[in-house]
Amino acid sequence: MSASAIFILDLKGKWSVVATTTKNSNASLIYAFLYKIVQVFTEYFKELEEESIRDNFVIIYELLDEIMDFGFPQTTDSKILQEYITQQGQKLEVAAPRPPATVTNAVSWRSEGLKYKKNEVFIDVIEGVNVLVSANGNVLQSEIVGSVKLRVFLSGMPELRLGLNDKVLFELTGRGKSKAVEMEDVKFHQCVRLSRFENDRTISFIPPDGDFELMSYRLNIHVKPLIWIESVIEKFSHSRVEYMIKAKSQFKKQSVANNVEIVVPVPSDADSPKFKTSMGSAKWVPENNTVVWTIKSLPGGKEYLMRAHFGLPSVENENAEGKPPISVKFEIPYFTVSGVQVRYMKIIEKSGYQALPWVRYITQSGDYQLRTH
Ligand SMILES: *[C@@H]1O[C@H](CO)[C@@H](O)[C@H](O)[C@H]1NC(C)=O
Repeated sequence: MSASAIFILDLKGKWSVVATTTKNSNASLIYAFLYKIVQVFTEYFKELEEESIRDNFVIIYELLDEIMDFGFPQTTDSKILQEYITQQGQKLEVAAPRPPATVTNAVSWRSEGLKYKKNEVFIDVIEGVNVLVSANGNVLQSEIVGSVKLRVFLSGMPELRLGLNDKVLFELTGRGKSKAVEMEDVKFHQCVRLSRFENDRTISFIPPDGDFELMSYRLNIHVKPLIWIESVIEKFSHSRVEYMIKAKSQFKKQSVANNVEIVVPVPSDADSPKFKTSMGSAKWVPENNTVVWTIKSLPGGKEYLMRAHFGLPSVENENAEGKPPISVKFEIPYFTVSGVQVRYMKIIEKSGYQALPWVRYITQSGDYQLRTH
């Protein structure tokens, strides 16, 4: 990309990272590189702010030196960088000075010689549901944003293969009848062999050590909101406003939504709150102008009610702050909305050890909003 300089600009406590180039370069490559730099710095310093930039000037200089050579991006993986640029800014020299194995290695994201007593892989399939519902109950927008996250504790240089119930794969192999899911916008971690995936939809890779996101995807499908909210808001000017909020769980009875939070906006001049709930508890958060109704666990196929009553001052403050939507937060374990499933995870290492894969499914609320007008 031939960037000639990278600056970190400090604008009154806010910072920006800027690259300059001497000729036209691929803009998306530069963006990806700058994001990567910020990620590396954040992993080194925890918080990236004026103070940590000042305190770590020497390390930043060393990191920039390793990350880019002659305008070409080099290793940007912080786990690998940490092998030779330590937090103290001292070079770690093991025995005779030589480049770390990983830098000369074809697999830049994994070190050689890793050893675990127990070889395990934890696979999390996490899906967020983004839903926007109009005041009269129409779903205006809905999509599923999924991600497969791995936590890898494996010795040596293992080869992994992940099998999903991927629709395109099932069509390729003539497995028409099985339940399959059509994923869009699939993005992979750099360790996945893309050509292999394009050829036969096999997700094969040598994983980094520890936590990383293996892939993300999107499904642009019409999803029925998992928790349906109905609201009746009655405003009596100069005296009070009353809310009746109904929450209905529209998923299977065997599933449970945990930590459900229904956030209802209220006028900024409201006072003297009173609540009644058929389940969970409600509280007024005056600094946010909201009522938060919390239900610890909400099983499928249930319906609960919350009533709130506020006093309003005599001076009308109509629409001064607009009408923000009601938002809903929750988490449903052991379940994906899309139906994406891990069919297998094969783990092969030349020493022949047995490794165990563990799979968890979680659905989260994502951006979940219901308009009230
Ligand atoms: C107030 O709103 C902020 C931003 O949405 C949120 O992070 C915070 O938790 C809210 N406060 C309470 C007490 O709910």
